[in-house]
Formats: sequence, structure tokens, C-alpha cells
Amino acid sequence: MDPAVPTSFDDDPAIGRVLLSEEQLTRRIEELGAQLTQDYAGRPPLLVCVLRGAYVFLTDLARSIDLPVQIDFIAVSSYGATTRTSGVVRLVKDLEVDLTDRDVILVEDIVDTGLTLRYLRRSLEARGPASLEVCALLARESADLEGLGVRYVGFTIPNDFVIGYGLDVAERYRNLRYLAVYDPDAAAEPS
Ligand code: PRP
Repeated sequence: MDPAVPTSFDDDPAIGRVLLSEEQLTRRIEELGAQLTQDYAGRPPLLVCVLRGAYVFLTDLARSIDLPVQIDFIAVSSYGATTRTSGVVRLVKDLEVDLTDRDVILVEDIVDTGLTLRYLRRSLEARGPASLEVCALLARESADLEGLGVRYVGFTIPNDFVIGYGLDVAERYRNLRYLAVYDPDAAAEPS
């Protein structure tokens, strides 16, 4: 273990202000689940989780939906280990389930530039689903949600660099129970 990397969240100065508490997240996700339960009554959807960031949201959202949903996973990459998008989306892991005639909900943790979503929408629509909607926990204030066709959104957030509840920096912080602002200047430099 790199001695410069904090071994506890409590001692980590890079974890800044709490943007969304555990309670706020839980409450909103229950609302989204209730909405989806109502909207998809009689036609249980297939939830497509976009790895890796959305895995935490997916587990809570799926259990808030009172319908026998199916779940599958897809992985794309555009950011790599950096915090800047490379501008090119790459399919890293494809779905196992056939989407033909299925009611599909794409589950994302965050819509930022919309690049990932545009790519995924094109890819999934080409597979002939009966319907395709997007449910994102977070969206940047700057994101064109209408243009991107995002029907379900948990929270709209400012442009801060955020971590926790699935969102990472170099694969850390995904298991933080809340969403916080990340302060790169306070982060320990790996030695
Ligand atoms: C993040 C996030 C979205 C995407 C959103 O994924 O999970 O998929 O970026 O950004 P965009 O709207 O600008 O395309 P990332 O590539 O960081 O991978 P991860 O989910 O594995 O952390």
C-alpha cells in the first residue's frame, strides 16, 4: 500500500463537502423506483447497468422497483484513468441478454458531456428494443437532458468534481456512502 494514500475516509482531506447525503440519495432513489414501478406496470423492464460507476445506484434502484426486473451489465470507457474524457467511447463489455422487443432502461450514475449516453443509445437502439429510456442518478446542470432523451433523473448537480456512491478517482471512493466534492489539491501525492 502506498504510504501517501489515506487508509481511512475519516483521514482523507481530499473528501470535501457532502453534496448529497446517504438519506437524500435513499429518499430520491425510492421515489424513482416508485415512479418506474408505476410506469412499467405489466411490462417489467430490463435494467442495463453501465459499469462501473452505476453499480451502486443500480443495486438500490432495482430493489426500489416492485416488479420482477431483469438486469444486465455493459461496460464502456472514455475516461480511462484520467478525469478528462478522451472523446472516444469504447465498448469494454457487451450485454448477454437479447434486447429484441424488450423494454429497456439504461441505468447511469452521471450524465456529464453526454458522450457516453449518445454512444450507448445508438448501440442499444440498433438492437431492436420495444422501448429504451434512460434513468440517471445525476446530471450536470449543463447537460442537454432533453436532447439526450433522459426521462428519469435523480439530481441535477453543478460542475464540481464529485466522488462516492459509485463515482471514483482511480477506482477509489466508489464505496463512499454519500456523494462528496473531491478536492484534488488536498489529495496526497502518491510517492
Ligand atoms: C462516467 C460515468 C458515465 C460517463 C459520463 O464513466 O459513469 O458513464 O462517465 O460522462 P459523459 O456524459 O461525459 O460521457 P467513466 O468513464 O468515468 O467510467 P466508470 O463508470 O467506470 O467510472
